[in-house]
Parts: sequence; structure tokens; C-alpha cells
Amino acid sequence: MSTDAVRFVTACRVCGSRRWQEVVSFGSVPLANGFVDAAEADAPEEAYPLEAVSCRECRLLSLTAVVDPHLLYRTYSYVTSDSETMARHMRTVVELCGERAALAGGGLVVELGSNTGDQLLYFREAGARVLGVDPARNLARVAEDRGVPTLPDYFDSATAREIAATHGKASLILGRHVFAHIDDVADVLAGARELLADHGLFTIEVPYAVDLVERLAFDTIYHEHLSYFLISTLDRLFARHGLRTVDVERLAVHGGSVLVSAGRADGPWRTHDRVRDLIAGERAAGYLSDGVYQEFGARVRRTCAELTRLVRGLVADGHRVAGYGASAKGTTLLNLCGLGPGELEFCTDTTPQKQGRLTPGTHVPVLAPQDVRRPPDYYLLLAWNYAEEIMRKETAFLEAGGGFIVPVPEPTVRTGAVAAR
Ligand code: TMP
Ligand code: ZN
Repeated sequence: MSTDAVRFVTACRVCGSRRWQEVVSFGSVPLANGFVDAAEADAPEEAYPLEAVSCRECRLLSLTAVVDPHLLYRTYSYVTSDSETMARHMRTVVELCGERAALAGGGLVVELGSNTGDQLLYFREAGARVLGVDPARNLARVAEDRGVPTLPDYFDSATAREIAATHGKASLILGRHVFAHIDDVADVLAGARELLADHGLFTIEVPYAVDLVERLAFDTIYHEHLSYFLISTLDRLFARHGLRTVDVERLAVHGGSVLVSAGRADGPWRTHDRVRDLIAGERAAGYLSDGVYQEFGARVRRTCAELTRLVRGLVADGHRVAGYGASAKGTTLLNLCGLGPGELEFCTDTTPQKQGRLTPGTHVPVLAPQDVRRPPDYYLLLAWNYAEEIMRKETAFLEAGGGFIVPVPEPTVRTGAVAAR
């Protein structure tokens, strides 16, 4: 590992405190989307420390190591899933944002981390003017080809100023599953504040730390996800940067997320009761003190050991096992649980960029679904956030006696017609 590829966090990016509680330490793990070309299978692979800590002051759950964003995002193999679940979710986001901010009639929607432009196409359909911002040049080009204007850049205060000068102020600045990837949140929030119209809303969708802990979604911990937020932590962060939390909605996507909006503190918006209720709930459930995080760490270690035992037991009994969905979280799960080609014959995934390559660190070959000649006896569901959609799609596999191993919150095996419902 070259030392300038990683920055170790000292002060909390939300509140500046240096008082940390250790939560989980996963050792050194390769990058979650660092799929390996088969020709390079023998080359040494970079791995980076993966460890989460909780700030004792504001309860930000943070990684200790920040990998250089250029390594992660300049060429990005993660493409927004074209699944039914995601399409439905994106329409919900348009509805919720439309309710919160008036977007019809040509209001400007700027999206950070706009990927291939899917979400912005839905906003355009609803009558908004749209502009994407994404540092992945390969993806920004795809978005442009689909008619979504996209700046191939990181969103920061400089980009925000440039956008305001060229396109005017924004009614909505949206960041879906990107804000938690950002180290210098202060600069992004300064940019957002400047680019927002008076009535505009800065809206982010982030995994909710409460869901992470309750659902034991420890595999969503990987280098790209620098922060895991409570609403209380976000509220504090926004206030520090001249923004006021306006509304929040809990959503099922990616294992439990929140869509949180903030407006300029000097603007017309007031805070909805939903925000206050969630903050009170976090305090009441113990999320502002050490105990919850200590217990989380212990549960992760137990569950991991249980999953490894279950999969190895099936293999030892002569069953064939493969992975379903070479998801980024699958990288954490497989590396952490020590599962690789000894247990999994292959991993099937619908993303063309991943097919024909090997899973990071564990080197399980990724196959397109149509290239799976003989389905295994069991699929380890690495894309468990799409469980319902996948089980519905795979009724033939289930009816033929196949089973799905769902890894979290505790390893369970789902078989037969019941699983498909
Ligand atoms: P994500 O949770 O980060 O979107 O990753 C899910 C991965 O699972 C992604 O690589 C696509 C893959 N996938 C399939 O292979 N089949 C499916 O039916 C679905 C919904 C996802
Ligand atoms: Zn803090």
C-alpha cells in the first residue's frame, strides 16, 4: 500500500472531536469495486485498512482510513442497477422531492454522483431542468450519450460556483448514496449553500446508521463509505454549515436508507416533526452512547463465523454453492468471512463491467447469468438488498430445489415456493 493513497482520519469530519470509540476492525481489504482481470490474477493486489470508529461527541460512525478518491472514482465499475426495485425507488425520490420543493416549470436539479443519469431522466420527465456531476469520466460519457448533461467532476465549492454562474441557482441539489463517500463534507456543504436558491433544498440519501446496526448490515462497510449517519449527526452537521434540516423519510433501499432534506438556515423552510421524532428515537434507543456499538462489533464477529460454518458445511456435504450478485458489499462479506473459490464456484452478476473478471481479494469468477450452465444447489445472496426481486425472478431455481443463503441479519437458508413469495 503506498502511503499517499490513504489518509488516516484524526479529527471528526462533522464536529472536529478526536475522541473515538473503536467499533469494528476488518484488517486490510481490497477495494469493494476493484474487480480483477483474469490475466492479472497472479499480480499482487492492493489492500487497505478497513476499520470503523464512532465519534464520542456527535456519534458519526466513520472509517479510519480515507482512500484517495481518484483511485476509487475516476473509472468506476459501479453502475446503478437497472433493477425494478431501483426504478420504483427513483420514481419515489422524484415524488418526495417534488412534494418538498416545487420542481415542475423548469426548476434546476443538480445531482452529485449522477452515475449514468438514470435518476435525472426521471426528474426531466417530471418537468425539471437537469445537470449531473460525476467524476467517473466513463460514466459521465454514458450519461451525456443518453441526453443528460453531465460535468465530469467532483462536486465541491468551486464546481458549485461554476454551476451557479452558468446555469443559475438550483431548486434541488441531490446526492443519492454519494454524501457518505465524501471526506471534505464542509466544502461540499459550502458549495451547496451557495448554489441553492432561497427556496431550494439540498437532499441526500444515505444509509441510515440505525438500520446498519439493527439489520447487522456490516458488509455495507467498505472503503467508499466513509460515514454512516444518524439524523442527529446530520442535523448537527447542517447547522454548522448554515443549513436547516427540513424533512426526512426512511426508505428500504440499500438495506435501509434515509432521504434527508436541508434548506438554507436563512430561507423559508421549517423543520418537520418527523425529524425531531427520529432524533428523539435515536437518543432513546441508545445510539448516542457506547453500548450499541460495542454490541454491534460482537454481533458482526459471531454472524461472520456462523456464515462461514454454514457455507463450508454445505460444501463439505457435497453441495455446490455460488454467489448471487457480485455486489460491493459482497467484497467485504467474502473477504471478512474467508469465503472464496474453495467454497463458491462462481458469482453471477448482471453488470457487464464485472462479468469475466474476478471478485476483489477472493478471486471468484464473475459470470453473466446467461453463462451459468449448471445452477448450483445454493446461492449465497450477496445482493441481499434485492432479495424479494431476485427470489421472484428465480422461482424456477427455487422450484427445482435450489436454496438461497441470506447472510444478514443472521445467516438463513430460504428454499421452495415460500421463498419466492
Ligand atoms: P448494489 O446493491 O450495490 O446495487 O449491487 C447489486 C449487484 O447485484 C449489482 O452488481 C447487480 C447485481 N444484481 C444481479 O446480478 N441480479 C439482480 O437481479 C439484481 C437485482 C442485482
Ligand atoms: Zn464528531
